[in-house]
Amino acid sequence: MSTKITIIGAGSVGSTIAYTLAMDNDSASEIVLIDINKEKVLGEVMDIAQGTFFRNPVSIVAGDYADAKDSDIVIITSGIARKPGQTRIELTQTNVNILKQITPQITAVAPNAKYVIVSNPVDIMTYVFTKISGIPEKQIIGSGTILDTARLRYGLSEHCKIAQKNIHAYVYGEHGDSSFVPWSIADVAGTSIDNYPELVKDTVDYTPIDKDAMVEYVHTSGGEVIKRKGATFYAVSASVCQLVSLLTASSDSVATVSTLMHGEYGIEDVCISTLTMIGPDGVRCKLPVQLTDEEVEKLRASADLLKGIIAQIEH
Ligand SMILES: NC(=O)c1ccc[n+]([C@@H]2O[C@H](COP(=O)([O-])OP(=O)(O)OC[C@H]3O[C@@H](n4cnc5c(N)ncnc54)[C@H](O)[C@@H]3O)[C@@H](O)[C@H]2O)c1
Repeated sequence: MSTKITIIGAGSVGSTIAYTLAMDNDSASEIVLIDINKEKVLGEVMDIAQGTFFRNPVSIVAGDYADAKDSDIVIITSGIARKPGQTRIELTQTNVNILKQITPQITAVAPNAKYVIVSNPVDIMTYVFTKISGIPEKQIIGSGTILDTARLRYGLSEHCKIAQKNIHAYVYGEHGDSSFVPWSIADVAGTSIDNYPELVKDTVDYTPIDKDAMVEYVHTSGGEVIKRKGATFYAVSASVCQLVSLLTASSDSVATVSTLMHGEYGIEDVCISTLTMIGPDGVRCKLPVQLTDEEVEKLRASADLLKGIIAQIEH
């Protein structure tokens, strides 16, 4: 299958996504990387292209919007990265302005692409793109809490001493501090996460999960990485490449991604992450699985927080 993928923004995140896609034989046949920093994007493309001898043929170019024509997937990572100590929200207007500048240029040449929004604050950026782009909603996916969910799975897997694939637990809400874990739908190998210790108590040295600490771990993960190395890009790139593979698969999958709400859990007109069916046709629907009243309240509070920000920005 030939898949043309354009990545806008060749910074740490965009370049790592390009590299990961370029090294994976199944993801992309053509990759276009666009950035206002022409030298940087050329350097990134040279560096990635010179390693492609070791995979199936792939075209990778440092391009302009014309080169993105008829892309199947467009990934937006342009913007300013969060600095140590800076909140995602403080970045909002700057990154929205960048988005407003690039949107008409890319949508003119790739009206049928599926758009994966990664730039932060990702829920706001996804909402703004949905409102200004003229692109059908089903083609717009914010990476949302797919990264937070991956961090949660890693944390739970380390704690439970079982493979991440055997854990089904999710982070809902804003990609940020108001996100939460709906523990009522979390399971390990088909067993409620609360009952799991009882099953393994005779064989595994296991302490109960401190749920608050686990949520704290998810909330602080990005900041902890940024504090040490200045940016986060490997885990987010792995998450985005997983999204690409879901969007090019032959059937739908569920993932916690940010898409426009239409009354699910009493929430509308905001992009936020809950379980969402996505696949080759883009966004199929939100999967409104039953949550406890307390979890629904947390989701509504997260949505209200995002709406408060949307009300303060110009878009
Ligand atoms: N959603 C997530 O889970 C997640 C995780 C990590 C980072 N991010 C976000 O991804 C974005 C990129 O992060 P990064 O670490 O790669 O930042 P970075 O500063 O390394 O790269 C950003 C790139 O965008 C480019 N750019 C700026 N304006 C542009 C424009 N108008 N057109 C084209 N390119 C433009 C810059 O030249 C730069 O190369 C940030 O908003 C960051 O907060 C999101």
